[in-house]
Amino acid sequence: MRIDIITLFPDMFRGPFGEGLMQRARERELITIRLHDLRAFSEDKHGKVDDFPYGGGAGMVLKPEPVARALEALRRPEARIILLTPQGAPLTQKRVNALSLEQHLILLCGRYKGIDERIRRRFVPDEISIGDYVLMGGELPAMVLTEAVVRVIPGVLGDSESALEDSFQQVLLDCPWYTRPEEFEGMRVPKVLREGDHAKTKAWRQQESEQRTRQRRPDLWEQFLAEKEA
Ligand code: ADE
Repeated sequence: MRIDIITLFPDMFRGPFGEGLMQRARERELITIRLHDLRAFSEDKHGKVDDFPYGGGAGMVLKPEPVARALEALRRPEARIILLTPQGAPLTQKRVNALSLEQHLILLCGRYKGIDERIRRRFVPDEISIGDYVLMGGELPAMVLTEAVVRVIPGVLGDSESALEDSFQQVLLDCPWYTRPEEFEGMRVPKVLREGDHAKTKAWRQQESEQRTRQRRPDLWEQFLAEKEA
């Protein structure tokens, strides 16, 4: 899979994409990520990419021409263009899984007030939001989306911790986890986890997951019950 990211701030990505499993996935070529500076697609001699909004108002709008030029240069027939914006559809694990099956994603990071509306009409990108709050641009959302997608690409996590098992693949929240020592500040690891009975452990984890979900996320609990019925 290839991910092209169009941004005014390519340097923002270097830290998060240069560490840990993300870096390893890139080294092993499970994923190819390319960063593109939007300014490089400006034809203005000062690299201008934004301008005042028609009709007035505070803040700037990204001009359509540099964005269009960048998209035309990077787009291949199989490419899926995604605009990160608070107006987008919520990013969910389901959407992440679906995106992980694509061959080519182009992520477009908005800044300022947003991108000239004609880009939407011309390229009809998918629009994705990472939550109901407003960030200063689409860069962090693009990082979040990329990490979530890369994480479920086969081979990125070890076999034993395959992404298919964890919480949110199965709607429910994750169960509690413990490691050594057996006792910490007077608190002991639950007995069932120390006994080595695989079936009992599995049942305990399922029960804990269900209980947590019911208490913390009634919305997910309803979804779980509905899917169980189906
Ligand atoms: N750009 C600014 N805020 C955002 C959000 N919450 N999700 C996606 N893109 C954004």
